[in-house]
Amino acid sequence: MIKVTTWQKILKDTKKKISKNFKYIKDDSLICSFSENLLKNFFDVVVKKNGKVLIAYKKSKIVGLLVMENKSIDSISFFKRNILNISLNLLFSKNMSDKKILLRYFFNFLFMKKDNVIIKNNIILVAVVPSERGKNIGKKLIKKLIKLVNSNLFVSTDSDNFRAQNFYKKNKFKYFKQIYYGIRKLYLYKLKNN
Ligand SMILES: CC(C)(COP(=O)(O)OP(=O)(O)OC[C@H]1O[C@@H](n2cnc3c(N)ncnc32)[C@H](O)[C@@H]1OP(=O)(O)O)[C@@H](O)C(=O)NCCC(=O)NCCS
Repeated sequence: MIKVTTWQKILKDTKKKISKNFKYIKDDSLICSFSENLLKNFFDVVVKKNGKVLIAYKKSKIVGLLVMENKSIDSISFFKRNILNISLNLLFSKNMSDKKILLRYFFNFLFMKKDNVIIKNNIILVAVVPSERGKNIGKKLIKKLIKLVNSNLFVSTDSDNFRAQNFYKKNKFKYFKQIYYGIRKLYLYKLKNN
């Protein structure tokens, strides 16, 4: 049985246990590659700024994750503030995929436009462990978020991530516009009934 809960509702000691490693959820994600402390700090900051962190779990294993920032500037500020910590962590990681993430992170910052429009209620990550995909866990995470936020919701995804685009369309989002995040070309989707 899959359950979805919020980061705030997870007890302190459980938080420590579950923050250990999220890499297995999405191995090319910057957030999932964070160290234990960074991940905990990041989630705490997102929540403090009125964002949402939702966790899907099966027994005691985390199988899905959704992060929505209140304003699209929140995560960028966090990444900037922790640039040294994040870079060193990725540089000395044993995972090859972390070196790619570091390169992408570096180029995205280099080419980040200063005049980017600020997006409110911006979902920055939805990910389900590969072995559990296609079992409606992603859908459950989105449903819970809609219930909690109940106002304009946005999500952007890489222009070539057709799987995610299809997933958002099936979950009441519609294409809004194309945006750039550093060197990444993204498609921004907006929740339909708003
Ligand atoms: C995108 C993702 C979060 C979807 O989660 P999921 O639990 O596998 O999706 P669900 O089982 O809840 O699917 C919900 C709907 O989306 C559709 N969908 C999901 N994955 C799909 C795929 N690979 N291809 C086509 N449609 C898909 C399903 O048809 C389903 O609709 P239905 O219930 O009407 O059949 C998951 O595939 C994932 O983690 N992908 C890698 C990370 C990623 O790319 N995240 C998005 C960018 S941040």
